[in-house]
Amino acid sequence: MSSYQDFYRKSIESPIPFWEEQAKAIPWFQFPPKILSQDEHELARWYQGGKLNTSYLALDYHIEQGRGDQVALAYDSPVTQTKRQFTYRELLKEVELVAGMLSNVGVEKGDRVIIYMPMIPETVFAMLACARIGAVHSVVFGGFAARELAIRIDDAQPKVLLMGSGGKEIERIVAYKPIVDAALAEAAHQVEQVVVFQRDFVPASMEVGRDLDWEELRKTAHPTSYVEVDATDPLYILYTSGTTGKPKGVMRDNGGHAVAMKFSMEHFYGIAPGEVYWAASDVGWVVGHSYIVYGPLIQGCTTILFEGKPIKTPDPGTFWRVIEEYKVNVFFTAPTAFRAIRKEDPEGKLKQAYDTSSLRYQFLAGERCDVSTLNWIRNLLQVPIIDHWWQTESGWPMIGNMTGVELQPTKPGSAGQAVCGYSFSIFNEEGLELGPNEEGYLGIKYPLAPGALANLWQDTTRFKSAYLEKFPGYYLSGDGAYKDEDGFIFITGRTDDVINVAGHRLSTAEMEEVVAAHPAIAECAVIGIADELKGQVPVGFVVVKAGVDLAADTLEAELIQMVRDKVGAVASFKRATIAQKLPKTRSGKILRKVMRYIADGKSFNTPSTIEDLSVLDQLRELMKKQRIGQAFS
Ligand code: COA
Ligand code: AMP
Repeated sequence: MSSYQDFYRKSIESPIPFWEEQAKAIPWFQFPPKILSQDEHELARWYQGGKLNTSYLALDYHIEQGRGDQVALAYDSPVTQTKRQFTYRELLKEVELVAGMLSNVGVEKGDRVIIYMPMIPETVFAMLACARIGAVHSVVFGGFAARELAIRIDDAQPKVLLMGSGGKEIERIVAYKPIVDAALAEAAHQVEQVVVFQRDFVPASMEVGRDLDWEELRKTAHPTSYVEVDATDPLYILYTSGTTGKPKGVMRDNGGHAVAMKFSMEHFYGIAPGEVYWAASDVGWVVGHSYIVYGPLIQGCTTILFEGKPIKTPDPGTFWRVIEEYKVNVFFTAPTAFRAIRKEDPEGKLKQAYDTSSLRYQFLAGERCDVSTLNWIRNLLQVPIIDHWWQTESGWPMIGNMTGVELQPTKPGSAGQAVCGYSFSIFNEEGLELGPNEEGYLGIKYPLAPGALANLWQDTTRFKSAYLEKFPGYYLSGDGAYKDEDGFIFITGRTDDVINVAGHRLSTAEMEEVVAAHPAIAECAVIGIADELKGQVPVGFVVVKAGVDLAADTLEAELIQMVRDKVGAVASFKRATIAQKLPKTRSGKILRKVMRYIADGKSFNTPSTIEDLSVLDQLRELMKKQRIGQAFS
């Protein structure tokens, strides 16, 4: 095995032979005749002409290799006190039946299927079943409200919607059916069928003709085998927050994704077939797609599907219990989960009751990891704690520590070094490349590595304008960063209006759209401010229309409820305050970044274009009075 530096250099200097070699690690039906090409939109495509099936790679192939009796999926649900395990052979059987169900309701290759389901095995069956018949799934996170679901339905234009009747948030039961019904009432596009998986604690009402019962369909379904798809055929669409009210439909294709999953499991996470991998996330996010479902199964690992929280299900020892019980070798979660555990069990006393010696590495991503949390978890677990950086768009790590190649030293505060296939540059506003330790926009040489998004679903124009136009030849990541002289990259946060709340990526523009719709509001700004537990939380600043006579408390409560109803509880929008004025440039642009810096107590250069300097002092006073922001609380 070569050193990290050699391996990385090869991937950048000779990407085509490098990714040709990596592609040999998966069993294709037809090896791609072309490794890198351009499509009709002049966008890079990997492995054109290759033929494969992602569900075959994740299931059938392992059975052929003698892993049929190994546990593929272990479902552990402290919220419902249920545990179920599926070997590769059993999982295949379930997936074949769901593929048969989908065929029976008319789903064909290329059709889209929305999956609005909680963290249950049926969700995994559904994703793999879509992949099996070449349908394109779009999983929508259960914490999103009806409007968000409707937006995704209209964009993806699904033939069928698969849903669970609900989920459990610790004790709170979340019924999905009213949300689906409301979303379908709001959406312009209509699905032909809704298939409902009933959970006994939250029965869903059924609309005759449109809604079908999952179990009933399953009884009459025939096991369905895989179809051959092209490497460049879409595997899934996953919507993620952008800088406007409309989320971006990240489109990922089959070939590049399969190679990236195999490559990252092996060379990044350093985990072998037969070992146990656990990503404590949700299948509604990219981490769940890549590292609960596809990555571990393509690598022949056992994956854990955990329906619970780091705390209160039942206590902050639950993670350690799962690691011991399933002998987890590699664990991945977001720093916020450890901050939550630390808050309830500061000395990590509950950890002492469990044997976590199976654990080799602890990976963290989804948000910046503060050094204090990093040190706390390192002391507790006594294994390498590895921060790594990536996005829904990449689908797999871009910055980190390639433990499967060579464990590198780490620098606290840095997400690590570049991962094979990704070459980073830091730019200033004018597009000038900056030197070591200079902070700017984090750009990545285009084309990105296999597995990264091929395009936005049906929106090439937005793909180009959002990612490729600001710095020609580079992909705009949306994050700020600096790189030190050793190549370690330090992420400094988003440069746009995307925020990160408890590892969940959200758009302040979407929340602003909702707040602005309140009849009392003249204008508003929603900013993400630093929060000890969740990393960031959104706060609304609103200017009310002249003549409005509404108590501040009442208005705040109404706005909070509106965001909860329209965006979802996951937005964690819990504060909205009335301001006399918002700081703006002379051309009328709200200075959200300046507002955020004031709340976070960070120094900044007052923009020369500011319309009225005194508004900044007013804002400082308001934050102080209302105890908004770490600088004032
Ligand atoms: N369905 C419905 N509601 C959901 C939901 C889901 N799938 N997920 C979250 N919510 C709700 C929560 O119940 C909460 O509602 P509340 O305002 O009524 O309390 C709200 O959305 C905010 O959720 P969250 O930000 O998760 O906060 P929390 O206080 O419930 O939990 C943590 C805090 C840190 C324990 C939790 O965020 C966590 O475990 N994070 C791990 C990070 C993670 O999985 N990141 C994914 C990328 S790696
Ligand atoms: P998502 O697309 O939901 O995975 O969110 C991606 C965004 O989360 C990135 O653009 C970053 O802003 C942030 N992020 C992810 N991982 C890290 C990390 N390790 N350090 C800092 N920020 C991160």
